[in-house]
Amino acid sequence: ETNSLTTKSLLDWYDRHARALPWRVSPEDRRLGEIPDPYRIWLSEVMLQQTTVAAVKDYFIKFTGTWPTVMDLAAARQEDVMKAWAGLGYYSRARNLKKCADTVARDHGGHFPDTEDALLKLPGIGPYTAAAIAAIAFDRHAAVVDGNVERVLSRLGLIETPLPDAKPEIKALMGTLTPSDRPGDFAQAVMDLGATICTPKRPACAICPWTQECRARNEGLAETLPRKAPK
Ligand code: ADE
Repeated sequence: ETNSLTTKSLLDWYDRHARALPWRVSPEDRRLGEIPDPYRIWLSEVMLQQTTVAAVKDYFIKFTGTWPTVMDLAAARQEDVMKAWAGLGYYSRARNLKKCADTVARDHGGHFPDTEDALLKLPGIGPYTAAAIAAIAFDRHAAVVDGNVERVLSRLGLIETPLPDAKPEIKALMGTLTPSDRPGDFAQAVMDLGATICTPKRPACAICPWTQECRARNEGLAETLPRKAPK
């Protein structure tokens, strides 16, 4: 089946090219039985929301050094959390972060819930973050769509509808492509592809694992997608 071949070729690429990131369990370690820590996945996804991977790395390492578990973060003083966040910007994220840690500690015994629906009920966790944690930390089938995924999939599927109208179509395509087997690795693979190969300008189609199946590339339209509705 076409979709499963498309899915498989990207997972094969990810097995060879996954970026080493401080919050990530590599495909190799995953195979050896290492389990991702939901607390670290949650924290990284919140930090990455409006901030680049390069800027987040050092903050993430310092933060998890100071507060290694969600119980530690719940026990922290808000003031100290704000200080550790200083420089990352969008400070409402740090206030919500503490609120969420307090809720997980108080209502869930320090364990993050393991479904997208239950995660959505936590303070500061929206549809993107709920899907990302469900897929990456708990191996749940969830369609994880951020800006990178929008770009990659609008090109793969030649989705010419401008954003934001194209969002439901992109989410549906991501849902179809995501395997039940390795949903979290698949989501991270699409994100890595968007960050390293399927870039906004001058995408490196010649070395892309999806070069054959990419409909935009076949039409010479890769760099023109995704289209954006005028503001
Ligand atoms: N951007 C946001 N979340 C990410 C992740 N888990 N891996 C790579 N890039 C990301």
